[in-house]
Amino acid sequence: MSFSRAEAFAPATVANLGVGFDILGLAIEGMGDRAIVEFQESSKILISKIEGDAGKLPRDPKKNVASVSASAFLERMGDKRGLRIELFKGLPLSSGVGSSAASAVVTVVALNKLYGEPFSREQLLPFCLEGEALVSGYHADNVAPCLLGGITLVAGITVEAIQPLPIPDNLHLALVTPEIAIPTAEARAVMPSHVSLPTLIHQTGKVARLIDALHRGDLQAMAEAMENDLVAEPARASLMPHLQYVRKAAKACGALAVFIGGAGPTLCALCDAKSVAEKVAGAMKRVYSERELESRALSTRVDRRGSIVINAE
Ligand code: HSE
Repeated sequence: MSFSRAEAFAPATVANLGVGFDILGLAIEGMGDRAIVEFQESSKILISKIEGDAGKLPRDPKKNVASVSASAFLERMGDKRGLRIELFKGLPLSSGVGSSAASAVVTVVALNKLYGEPFSREQLLPFCLEGEALVSGYHADNVAPCLLGGITLVAGITVEAIQPLPIPDNLHLALVTPEIAIPTAEARAVMPSHVSLPTLIHQTGKVARLIDALHRGDLQAMAEAMENDLVAEPARASLMPHLQYVRKAAKACGALAVFIGGAGPTLCALCDAKSVAEKVAGAMKRVYSERELESRALSTRVDRRGSIVINAE
């Protein structure tokens, strides 16, 4: 059954999980974007509304992640019809919670619904990646968990590369996002272009350890692996305000690990209970407020639904 108008929701995501640069990510509850798409007579894609971006996202359909993803989808369908897109940004931009991935995913999931869902969520990956690539190149560590929910390994950029991972029952998260923007391109520019063999051995060992720990539901081992990143955090730490103070404050309240959310500046704490995550979120926010930096904090869990269609007519 096809529709003329559809509305979807896509959750926030946290990429890398410390050691898994560009290959690991998870979706979180409590934050996300919405989009409404509808066919229009003209053959153009029009972004008719964007709310919640303070006017910062490009309205030019060739430069906007949502419309570029939609265009890739329409091209695949061989459809010459035009589209109107309304985007409601619940996610802060350039903040490490997968805002560009959510723009791409929420639009493509709504568009897929217009056609009666010919593609599974996994199969929507390539269209979303076309949009995400505008911002930060081809990597699927935000797009995959945003589409599917849960924790995902994406060892490549193809549909076959997506592997959902187990979610330990007692996994809770605390997030804090200071009010500064770090464009992903800038955070990627500081990454090393090469790593040494000892670093490679260390890093692959920790990624393997993290995945094994997820399978065993061992949060302590997860924490140890996540915080032992020798590649992204050392390169990016200086871009993250007060990282070590936030880490110290979070651990004093019981957090098991603190890691950079994606390209930052969001910082995430791994916790083993809701009460701990709530305390940690408050403590992390206080570190910024004591230093006169606005921030928003969230105590949350892994989202298991991924992107969903809210309604269609
Ligand atoms: N893996 C990406 C990075 C996530 O850390 O640059 C942000 O797009």
